[in-house]
Amino acid sequence: MSESLQRRLVRQASASYRPAGPWAWHFARGKLARDPVFAALLRPGLLPATGRYLDLGCGQGLLASWLRAAAALHAGHDWPAEQPAPPRISAYHGLDMQATAIRHARQALADCDFPTRLDLGDLRDFALPDADVITLFDVLHYLPGTAQESLLQRIRDSLPPDGRLLLRVGDGAAGLPHHLSRVVDSLVVRLQGGTWPRLHCRPATAWLGLLGELGFRVEPFPMAGAGFANVLLRARPI
Ligand SMILES: C[S@@+](CC[C@H](N)C(=O)[O-])C[C@H]1O[C@@H](n2cnc3c(N)ncnc32)[C@H](O)[C@@H]1O
Repeated sequence: MSESLQRRLVRQASASYRPAGPWAWHFARGKLARDPVFAALLRPGLLPATGRYLDLGCGQGLLASWLRAAAALHAGHDWPAEQPAPPRISAYHGLDMQATAIRHARQALADCDFPTRLDLGDLRDFALPDADVITLFDVLHYLPGTAQESLLQRIRDSLPPDGRLLLRVGDGAAGLPHHLSRVVDSLVVRLQGGTWPRLHCRPATAWLGLLGELGFRVEPFPMAGAGFANVLLRARPI
């Protein structure tokens, strides 16, 4: 993706957080500009052309703001000819346990042209609604090991045959870069009003093994310029 498109996307996607206040807006700008996962979402073939999204541990809903901004630029012919059309959200359902994050997400996504629902709750006892794409970005390590396994099993059972789980996890075997990533995650949760979380990490190979045992076919997707030790995985039911 060109730098110019990236800049326009960051500006457009973060602007929707202005009503939520300076913290939400600055956080959105910084994360959307620096986190390579957002550019990776626009790679051809990673996501379906359109679909219902379930974003577990959605934070302030950056994923939906980003794809909404991409759809708006594309519809407004402000989109490079060489860049494939962006994936479109047909409905978005986000869940997070932090009230501040959900409030910011509700404000930012209030005028979407697709149905949105943002729930405050704990994904450990959340009944999973139907979805074509389920996302878990930097979330699983907040859950103890058995809760990670039971959530992934429930996701496997709920996905349609052509559905996909997109998850980003830390590589617990990556040493210092991994520890830095986890410090950043903990700080974000703390700054948004949560308590210091206890984290439960696994090496990337263990995540791949677990997903395979649960009946997923998994493909790792490289993220350009990823400084920290996170891996983006696409998992599809076998
Ligand atoms: C590092 S943030 C990532 C937010 C978002 N996925 C993103 O990429 O911008 C992790 C999020 O997971 C949420 N979370 C952690 N444990 C959770 C749980 N048991 N139920 C719901 N949300 C949870 C936190 O509140 C936090 O917003």
